[in-house]
Amino acid sequence: MRLTVVGGGSTYTPELVDGICARRSTLDVEELVLVDPDERRLEIVGDFSRRLLARAGHPALVHTTTSVAEGAEGASAVLLQLRVGGQRARRSDETFPHACGCVGQETTGAGGLAKALRTVPVVLDIADRVREVAGPDAWLVDFTNPVGIVTRALLEAGHRAVGLCNVAIGLQRLSARLLGVDSASVRLDHVGLNHLSWERRVLVADAHGETDRLPELLAAHGPELAEHVGAPCDWLRRTGMLPSYYLKYFYAHDEAVRAQLTERPRADVVSEVEAELLACYADPALERTPELLASRGGAYYSEAAIELVRALIGAGSAGEHVVNVRNEGTLPFLPDDAVIETACAVDSSGVRPLPQRPVEPLLRGLIAQVSAYEHLALDAALRGGRDRVADALLAHPLVGQYALADRLADDLVAANRAVLPWV
Ligand code: G6P
Ligand code: MN
Ligand code: MN
Repeated sequence: MRLTVVGGGSTYTPELVDGICARRSTLDVEELVLVDPDERRLEIVGDFSRRLLARAGHPALVHTTTSVAEGAEGASAVLLQLRVGGQRARRSDETFPHACGCVGQETTGAGGLAKALRTVPVVLDIADRVREVAGPDAWLVDFTNPVGIVTRALLEAGHRAVGLCNVAIGLQRLSARLLGVDSASVRLDHVGLNHLSWERRVLVADAHGETDRLPELLAAHGPELAEHVGAPCDWLRRTGMLPSYYLKYFYAHDEAVRAQLTERPRADVVSEVEAELLACYADPALERTPELLASRGGAYYSEAAIELVRALIGAGSAGEHVVNVRNEGTLPFLPDDAVIETACAVDSSGVRPLPQRPVEPLLRGLIAQVSAYEHLALDAALRGGRDRVADALLAHPLVGQYALADRLADDLVAANRAVLPWV
């Protein structure tokens, strides 16, 4: 198969290549196409990818191009992993809300809205070009943040798309390690939206069927898990749930803002890591993905992606994957066209959400509110207009006041003036 990566010049790409090498027997990648506007990155990441494949004895060819139309032609699946405006735009998202006392984060709150407004038009344009050359059956796998909003935009435009994030696979792998079991035997009862999710059970397959071992995990490893997700250990044990790391921006908002005011923006840290990674990749003697890549947040993303693509193109049995899909009644308190992050049965016929247990009131209100915000955010991204931006912010649980929403909307538009198509 031809697998195309838009944003292929990303420093994450070698992890994906490692995943392709590790799963050679189950996913037959004949050609890996890296598409990126940055020719220098393409050359460095492309050459290093070739060395990784050669070292593993993998026969796949690597093709690099700056053209989406050329790169996506004949592709069975196209991964979207781009960042409009690069780390400079991310730095703005992570800092402009501070003037209003709000958290600065690239996918959450006002910063996440700014990213959605910049990204949705670009991704929709790329998806149209992909459809022209790859046909309507090619799968779009979206890693591009904010994944919930971008996936919703793709689905509403009629694309064959699914959204993917590494939060669930990260917690699945962590649970398996702490329990000392094979990760293939662990399934999560994962509920919510992208970057707004909770694990309610950690189901481990054994000789007796399946057992929920989350209570045992929390009893034995509470402090480590609490530290990992940024939540109080008492809360985890009391509720028996494991929230994602992103919930700390809601449940510990003021604390997160205070910390951010004294820390370097994540964008600056990541820029340095990326420069260092590119320097490593450019060394022809480098034969393995450097340890430094593990300091990025995207751990296991390649495993999640490769396993998902394998299921989508029918190269394996139907599998269960936590992905972003249309709700279609799965969470009865949300509209059918909302996008949720949930366990799905995946095979070549598509992605079907599995039934969910009723959602606790403690989670339900926040999920509903952020989902409504996502609806308004997409409307603002598609139709533009400062007032639509302000209304999306007013609907957001981290903003929710006229004066704040107005000020943040004006600051957001001012900071993104050069890149918003409607300004
Ligand atoms: C996690 C999230 C991704 C996000 C990444 C940021 O993996 O699921 O959606 O892009 O963290 O990591 P970074 O190293 O860029 O801060
Ligand atoms: Mn994510
Ligand atoms: Mn840990």
